[in-house]
Amino acid sequence: MRRLWVYDHIPLLRLEVALDCMTVPTRDFRLNELRVRHDIECLHCTTSGSNHQTVWGEGRADPDIFFVGEAPGKEENKFGRPFVGQAGQLLSAIFHEIGLCSEHCYIANVIKRRPPSNRTPLPDEIAKCGPYLIEQILTVQPKVIVALGGTATKFLLGTETGITRLRGVWASWTHPKLINRSSVPLLPTFHPSYILWKPESQRRNQLVSDIRMAVNRSRKTPIFMY
Ligand code: URA
Repeated sequence: MRRLWVYDHIPLLRLEVALDCMTVPTRDFRLNELRVRHDIECLHCTTSGSNHQTVWGEGRADPDIFFVGEAPGKEENKFGRPFVGQAGQLLSAIFHEIGLCSEHCYIANVIKRRPPSNRTPLPDEIAKCGPYLIEQILTVQPKVIVALGGTATKFLLGTETGITRLRGVWASWTHPKLINRSSVPLLPTFHPSYILWKPESQRRNQLVSDIRMAVNRSRKTPIFMY
C-alpha cells in the first residue's frame, strides 16, 4: 500500500473546509424538512388542540451548545419561540453574565407543544414528540448538550435519577446515528424555572457554573462534520 505523506492530506483538508461551508445550509435544509415532517406527523402536536402552537426551536445549524428544555410555556406558545418567557429571560441574563452568545447555540424542547395547564409532559407525550428532538440533535451535531431540568435529562439519558443528584456531572449522550464520534458530552443542570420558583442563590450559582463549564468544554471540542 502506498504510504501517505503530510502533503497528501492538503487537498483533503481543503475539501473538508469546503464541505464544512456546505454543511450549514444542508443542516438548515434538513432542519426545515424535519420541521415540516414533524408538523404533519407528530402524534402529540397534531392532536393537542388548536389553541397551542408548535414551538420548534431555533438557533445555529452548527451550534456549540444545544440547550434542551422541557416544553413551551405560555409566552413561548404565544410567540412560537422557545424560552421567551421568564425562564428564558433568566437564561439570557446568565448567557450575558458569562459572555455566551446565544447565536452560537441551538435551543429546543423535548416536546414542541405546551401541555394543558402547563403540567409536566406525560410519558406518552414524550414518547410521541421526543424522537423529533433526537432528530434535531442528530441534524445539527452540537459539540455539547445541556439538559435543562429533569424532563430533558431523563429523556436524553434514559435515567430515573433526580436532577439534584445528576446536575453538574458530565454524562454522554450516545446514538447509533451519530457521525464521526460515538457520543456527545451532556451536562444536566437545573431548569431556569426551578430557580425562579426556588430563588435560593446557591441554585442560581450552580446553574451559572454549569453553563460556564459547558461553554469551556465546547471551546475545547473540535467541529464535527458529516
Ligand atoms: N420552559 C421550557 O422548558 N421551555 C421553554 O421553551 C420555556 C420554558
